[in-house]
Amino acid sequence: MDGAQHYLKRIASEQDGFWQVLINYFPNVCNKNSRILDICCGVANEEPLLVRHFGKKTELISLDNNKGLESLLNELGRKSVKIGDVRELDRHVKGKFNLVMGRNVPLNPNYDAFRDRVFDYWPDVFEDLSRFMTSDATLFLTLVREDEFYRAEEILNWAGYRIRLKEINPIIVPSDYIGIQGADTKDSYVIIAQPPLQLRLFQC
Ligand SMILES: C[S@@+](CC[C@H](N)C(=O)[O-])C[C@H]1O[C@@H](n2cnc3c(N)ncnc32)[C@H](O)[C@@H]1O
Repeated sequence: MDGAQHYLKRIASEQDGFWQVLINYFPNVCNKNSRILDICCGVANEEPLLVRHFGKKTELISLDNNKGLESLLNELGRKSVKIGDVRELDRHVKGKFNLVMGRNVPLNPNYDAFRDRVFDYWPDVFEDLSRFMTSDATLFLTLVREDEFYRAEEILNWAGYRIRLKEINPIIVPSDYIGIQGADTKDSYVIIAQPPLQLRLFQC
């Protein structure tokens, strides 16, 4: 088996795992015309699965800031992916989404060697993200590591999200090893939340 075949096989088993995740966490799909935003999508292996599960009329936008993925994304025939930074959502997406998905979002704080400090932009990202969610939208996050799971909970609470479920994913999703170094499995922890309540003042 050559390298490309190995690679495609790994993607296929990752997709099989994530398909089970979709069926488990979204067993009833009521709105078949939904808008979905997939942040930090990497090679967006979930793209065909989301369209299959949520319906062909789903408008899916996937976002990742790694320009180096472009040729692989083309090879894989991904159509929904925009190269862009989740810190600049206004530049890349318009309108509101019914579902925001973030698989294996790297929530660990980033070290800025130039300024010799650790900075963590994720609280700002999640605070801003709520502007792009309908009031009844769902945020579906998966995390690889336990510390990221607790950090996600902390950030979402701080930003006013209403956490509906947080648990160890009962479904094993094998890693495709493309975006995640050193982890045999991914989507290890799941958090489902709703955006902060938006108070609307009475207007005359
Ligand atoms: C651990 S990988 C997960 C990729 C994919 N969701 C998956 O589960 O296979 C994290 C991804 O987040 C992307 N990423 C990190 N920071 C980002 C940012 N500020 N804006 C957009 N994408 C970002 C990386 O380029 C990388 O593809």
